Amino acid sequence: MRKTTMAARKSLSLTLKIWRQKHAKARGRFETHRVKGISTASSFLEMLDVLNENLIEAGREPVAFDHDCREGICGICSLYINGRAHGPSRGITTCQLHMRSFRDGDTIYVEPWRSRAFPVIKDLIVDRSALDRVLQAGGFISVNTSGNTQDADSIPVNKQDADQAFDAASCIGCGACVATCKNSSAMLFTAAKVSHLAHLPQGQIERKRRVQHMVRQMDAEGFGNCSVTGACEVECPKGIALKHIARMNREYGHAVLTSREQT
Ligand code: SF4
Ligand code: FES
Repeated sequence: MRKTTMAARKSLSLTLKIWRQKHAKARGRFETHRVKGISTASSFLEMLDVLNENLIEAGREPVAFDHDCREGICGICSLYINGRAHGPSRGITTCQLHMRSFRDGDTIYVEPWRSRAFPVIKDLIVDRSALDRVLQAGGFISVNTSGNTQDADSIPVNKQDADQAFDAASCIGCGACVATCKNSSAMLFTAAKVSHLAHLPQGQIERKRRVQHMVRQMDAEGFGNCSVTGACEVECPKGIALKHIARMNREYGHAVLTSREQT
């Protein structure tokens, strides 16, 4: 108990190299800031809060960064930290990264997601609406709303399919897979959505259309192709596996060969 209290009391002095950029077309640059007294028990975003309080007190403009749930659910806290999407730890989002992952005196580079499909809005905030449009192209199901709607719990799903669908459904749309991919590919994100619904009875009505529309939108947004490097799987905070991309490729091939709709 005493050890925990001592650990929580440790504090860090850090040098931050933060990307500042007024808008997508403006030239960006790294700005150097120093922060002191950062508790190792605080989160990375709380450390940025301290920086911003210091900047506001000094009459300077705070650093713009995205955040919402701060518990690994919403996927909005997209930051590149020391050259890694969501920072040095695996399986977590930036908001779940704690300052105990760093050492006193460290220099930390903080950048926005890197991808042409994610233009910078300001500083560390990027526009990830391209992922929303991929989702809108097919990430939905038809439900009978006539009053005779069947309760989803009464539709049997075998355990293997339920597990696969559940794994794929854990994608939070953060975009780390795109940001870390040398091709800026959104295949892991799109595959998670396609695979999730392809494994469920509720997803069968639009199954062929869904994969074709989502892949078409993914290409239209300017995301690159997958060359199976696997960086996306490594950096994905939810552990979405490459096998979902293989599943989407099978779904796509089958849909194109057996449906009249052309992509
Ligand atoms: S697949 Fe993983 S990295 Fe990509 S958007 Fe989903 S949760 Fe984020
Ligand atoms: S702020 Fe919601 S996942 Fe990080």
